[in-house]
Amino acid sequence: MVIDIIAGARPNFVKTAPIIRAIKEKESPDLKFRLIHTGQHYDKVMSDQFFEDLSIPVPDLNLGVGSGSQAEQTARIMVAYEKAIIDSKPDVTLVVGDVTSTMACAITAKKMHVPVIHVEAGIRSGDWRMPEEINRVVTDSITDLYFTTSTRATDNLVNQGVPKEKVIFVGNVMIDSLLASRTRFKKPDFWDAFGLRDKRYLVITLHRPSNVDQGNLLQQYLNVLQNITSTDPIIFPVHPRTRKRLSSLKIDEEKIKIVDPVGYLEFNYLVQHCRGIVTDSGGITEEATVLGVPCITLRTTTERPETIQIGTNEMAGEDPEKLTNLLEELYQSKWKNGGIPELWDGKSAKRIVDNILTHTF
Ligand code: UD1
Ligand code: UDP
Repeated sequence: MVIDIIAGARPNFVKTAPIIRAIKEKESPDLKFRLIHTGQHYDKVMSDQFFEDLSIPVPDLNLGVGSGSQAEQTARIMVAYEKAIIDSKPDVTLVVGDVTSTMACAITAKKMHVPVIHVEAGIRSGDWRMPEEINRVVTDSITDLYFTTSTRATDNLVNQGVPKEKVIFVGNVMIDSLLASRTRFKKPDFWDAFGLRDKRYLVITLHRPSNVDQGNLLQQYLNVLQNITSTDPIIFPVHPRTRKRLSSLKIDEEKIKIVDPVGYLEFNYLVQHCRGIVTDSGGITEEATVLGVPCITLRTTTERPETIQIGTNEMAGEDPEKLTNLLEELYQSKWKNGGIPELWDGKSAKRIVDNILTHTF
């Protein structure tokens, strides 16, 4: 069996790394993979650094699609991946997560009669403003084998009519990467220069279009953060989408330290040691849960409710006042203690590969 593994954007790299490792452990003439990087993310700090940090092999193919509107990027990925399938047809295509590369390659494969495996299937936010929700629903509508991170995601799929035997609850591959890398987390170079101390700083990451692309929400969040009375520094690794807005913002750089996106090992060192993280990321809410770090999410919905019900995550909506209230709780050390969701145990990729090998497509 030859499996095409698709990776295109930062969180994809983190999710594919353990799957590739698990396949390599069983690799034989009967089980091979072809790693395809779509090129959706391409800066060193958004791509190559993850390959290095997570020991991901050099992709067999880079489609080099680059940036563009939703339609442009989807179209370019589909055209390029179709050519790749014509050149060499895999037995199955495996996609992870919910980015444009996930959906575009799933559609392309399915139209070329290649069965699709979706890892992290079935999660739903119900928020149709987000391209990711459309990507999830479209991908899941043509998937042949579904791997889920929670029983709720499994239920979502089964309730939508997906046959039970096609849906397998395996846990969370993002957590496989986290647990496998934990002993290698690395203090960032700027640690001393910024005077960082254990549990005495915050981390923020923001990149959702609804938070950063329009209006002055981003400025309002930053105002709340830079007005906190604590002298704790705040580290803000800025996503390239957000970087475009920076010159129009008023930032107190004494308090908020702007840095480029940080490599995986350094970023998770920062998260592990911070007082709390303020984010609109999906993956980071899961990592914060497993690391037991307080997390405030600046979104109105989540497709990962277990990070709130079981983990350390709380929703602030898109509401600067709610952010203020949650930060007060954080500084008063009133944060809840979280637990770890079922099967987020570092062994999900192995379960995935075992199930692929015994499945009849
Ligand atoms: C994408 C995903 C989002 C995911 C995020 C992870 C979709 C629809 N969105 O959002 O779900 O949470 O990745 O980070 O797939 N850019 C660079 N260098 C890069 C990559 C991007 O400068 O290496 C800039 C470009 O100007 C680009 C913009 O960032 O237009 C946005 O990139 P894009 O991949 O379209 O979406 P993200 O916001 O990164
Ligand atoms: N991440 C990183 N450096 C950063 C920001 C994020 O290594 O500066 C990692 C993070 O640990 C997680 C992944 O990138 O593994 C999450 O990606 P992102 O927030 O971009 O996407 P999302 O999960 O929201 O789709």
